Amino acid sequence: MKNIKFRFFMPVEILMADEGQLDLSDEIGGDSAVIVTDPFLYESGQALTLGKSITAARVNYFHHIEPNPSTDTVDACKAAIEAAGASAVIGFGGGSCLDTAKAAACMAGSDKRFVECLEGGKEIPDRRLRLILIPTTAGTGSEVTNVGVYTSSETGAKIPLVRPDFYGDMAVLYPEATYTMPPAVTANTGMDAFCHAIEAYWNKNSQPFCDACALEALKLIKDNLLTAYYTGEDKEARKNMCIASLLAGAAFSQTRTTGPHALSYPLTANYHVAHGVGCALSLPAFIRLSTQKEEAKMVRLAKELGYESVNSLADGVEELLGNLHMPTRLRDIGAEEKDLKGIAKEAMNYYPQLALTPAVITEESLLCLLQSIY
Ligand SMILES: [Fe+2]
Repeated sequence: MKNIKFRFFMPVEILMADEGQLDLSDEIGGDSAVIVTDPFLYESGQALTLGKSITAARVNYFHHIEPNPSTDTVDACKAAIEAAGASAVIGFGGGSCLDTAKAAACMAGSDKRFVECLEGGKEIPDRRLRLILIPTTAGTGSEVTNVGVYTSSETGAKIPLVRPDFYGDMAVLYPEATYTMPPAVTANTGMDAFCHAIEAYWNKNSQPFCDACALEALKLIKDNLLTAYYTGEDKEARKNMCIASLLAGAAFSQTRTTGPHALSYPLTANYHVAHGVGCALSLPAFIRLSTQKEEAKMVRLAKELGYESVNSLADGVEELLGNLHMPTRLRDIGAEEKDLKGIAKEAMNYYPQLALTPAVITEESLLCLLQSIY
């Protein structure tokens, strides 16, 4: 259909499980599953507890997911899925585990290397396996997006990939899995969710469903992130952060992200900071800039969140970052002034979502922004 004003498409069945042992027996839809997870979740026993609950199927584990998963890791995961003859893939962990599960579930049965698809233009096969995604952090929203981010094993480039079948069949929120998340991870994943929500809200692709999800997510994060950070065992704060992450993920899955995420790619690649740190660092500056094209909408948001103006919202976010012990200056993450031009150039050349930012973005304006947060 032509002249579509907006479209909201979310093909993921979403469940929230109550506290107690998570039981996925009825959800596997086959006789063999592979749980894709990281070494910590495997060694701590959490992934095994999940696996043991699936009594209706044979369960194998691939537990070698690293932060910023490489294309080689996707290939190794794919091989484990093939060896197990699995009919279902369960991503259990942070964004890296979920993203790897998405790609490996598609690549299973193919003789291509994933890097050939990510960078070499070869087509990724359509996913034929059932895909269930269970986040153990509250931030990436990967459980309800069609996005995965991978690091090329050949060039080291960090590349986001968007595909319709990267949407899982099912997302399971299980707040109990986030109780043990360390404070630093709580902070940077929580601010990642904040960026998803606000970048969906001010996005040139924004629309009413996304605005509603984003606004609720921002309120939940404002009211719960500090509690989750300082009092990790607070169950209500953990549950609310899981819901916020889900809503923010649903919002940006429709709109894509904007400037803070575009800048995060060169920052995480060059200075090895966590994704949420790379996104949040430029967030106050982008909030100030957003009034260029979305002033009325941003004033509304500031008031909804309890601030007098967009500038005081930006100050409030900077204060929040300070309370979460997250860096607010580029020099804090090891950047030097001579690097700024290169960062601006890289973001302009590789990250088209910059164009969705509600401001005039040129290499010069981006450089000014970077200098203001140096
Ligand atoms: Fe993100």
